[in-house]
Order: sequence, then C-alpha cells, then structure tokens
Amino acid sequence: MREEGVLAVLDIADWGGPIDPAEGRRATHALEEGRVLFLPALRFAVEESEKKFLSAAALAPGRKNISLDPASGACQGSHYAGEEAQQLGAMLDRFARQAEALMRAIAPGYAGALRRARTSFRPADIEDRASSVRKDDRLLHVDAFPTRPTRGERILRVFSNIAPDGAERRWEVGEPFPDFAEKFLPRVTTGWAGSAWLIERLGLTKGRRSAYDTIMLGLHDAMKRDARYQAEAPHAALSFPPGTSWIVYTDQVLHAALAGRFALEQTFHLPVAAMAEPELAPLRVLERLKGRALA
Ligand code: SIN
Ligand code: FE
Repeated sequence: MREEGVLAVLDIADWGGPIDPAEGRRATHALEEGRVLFLPALRFAVEESEKKFLSAAALAPGRKNISLDPASGACQGSHYAGEEAQQLGAMLDRFARQAEALMRAIAPGYAGALRRARTSFRPADIEDRASSVRKDDRLLHVDAFPTRPTRGERILRVFSNIAPDGAERRWEVGEPFPDFAEKFLPRVTTGWAGSAWLIERLGLTKGRRSAYDTIMLGLHDAMKRDARYQAEAPHAALSFPPGTSWIVYTDQVLHAALAGRFALEQTFHLPVAAMAEPELAPLRVLERLKGRALA
C-alpha cells in the first residue's frame, strides 16, 4: 500500500484477496484515519448479458438510484420487472458478496461485526440528480440520513465505477473530520428533549435518533448550506476511472461527488467498538468535543 495525499492505494485485482495481514492492517488504519482506499486494479466484472443495464433508462422515472435491500431481497428503483428485475438484483447481490469478501480480506478483525446494508446502482449522471441544497451531494458533506439513525455506528462504503463509456467518477474530499467538527459543532444543536422520541413515534425514523444522529444531521446541513465554506474550505480533487474501486468511511470523510455515471455502491455498518482504533470514530471525536456521551 502507498499513500498519495488523501488516498491510500492498494494494488489488488481480486475481490477475495488474499491480502498480506500487515498490508491489511495498514489499509484498515488508512480507512479509519479518514483516507480513501483506492483500488485502481479492482474491477467489477459486468457480464455480457448484464450490459443492457448500463443505460440511464434502467432507472424508474423520478428515481436517482436502484437499490437492493439485503433483508427482503427486494430490488427497487428500476424500470424492470419479472426476469430482468431478478437479473439486475442478482448483479447487485454479486457486487455485495464481492464487497463483503473484500472487506473480510482487508479487515479480518471487522468480520463478525460488519453488517451488510443496502447495495445501490447509480446509473444517472451526477449532474442531473440534485433536487435541493440538502440533497445535493455535489456539495461537501458527511453522510447522515434523516430516516436512518446509526447511533454512532460507522457507515463504510465500497464503490466501483462500471461506466462502459470511459466516464470517470469525480469527487472532492475535504479537511479531516476533527478539524471540520471543531469549526461547525458550535453551530448545531442536539435537539430539544423528547424530539427524537416524537420523531420516532411519528414514523419518521427507523429506530430512535441519538444526540449523535441529531448532531451529524446538523453538521451535514450546516456544511452544505455554508456557501463560503463550500467555496473556500480545503479540498482535494479525486477521479476514479471505470474499472476501479474505492472504499471510504463516508460518515467521516468530507466528500462531494461532482460527476460520473454508472457506479455500484455497497454500504456496511460497523459498531465503533469493532474498529481497530475506535477513538478515530466521529462519535468519539464529537464526544470529546462535547465532553459527554452522545449515543
Ligand atoms: C455520496 O455519497 O455523496 C455520493 C457518492 C457517489 O455517488 O459517488
Ligand atoms: Fe455522501
């Protein structure tokens, strides 16, 4: 593994490894300290019979992603039905299993604790997707989702660019999470007592928001709404060509997706305690700054 600025680069070509244990520990440390682990030789193989899915027409009208729910097996957001929908679901499931094998190879210490969440297929041009400032992922942000509280658990994502036409996926990443958090934390509130309970009772969240979730949503929104920060904050430009993959803790790494089409993405959740260095988790960073437990 070598480090190139915010990137850690790992030259592997097989999803299942093997990866030398010392190399795996270095890669895990790089991820946990907020680098993007770039795998320039790790290609997701799209079968000949699946190439028809590499079309903007794969999306159902009004949807920005197609997603596979691991619990129900349901594949949502595509315009396909019947056998084709099953075939698309099978492609996403194959990506999910390869991403799982990859994480087992890189971070065997995560294995028992890493939970597979949704798999997504993102056919659309990023330029065409934004509907509001809060939802505009072309602006620097950390991932925090209004309906899905994590109570401090990590959001780890594996991406592959599968564009058939050479389109690079272009990102920017910002400053280290602790530096950002120190600046923005004074601007966000933890919500009034009882609000998380009420929001859960109203059916607006799956499970109850912790103070951590409320703060992370506040940080997400405050950063996107701060035009000056967006323009002036330090950021590094990254580009991921087709045939490459990358892994990133998106709850920690400030990121903006500027351009690209046809990516696959697998989300995992990991309890903070299962990290090699739990003190690097956003939960622990925010708790140190606040001086109290947040989840
Ligand atoms: C995001 O998580 O902000 C979007 C990443 C991407 O689709 O490349
Ligand atoms: Fe994001």
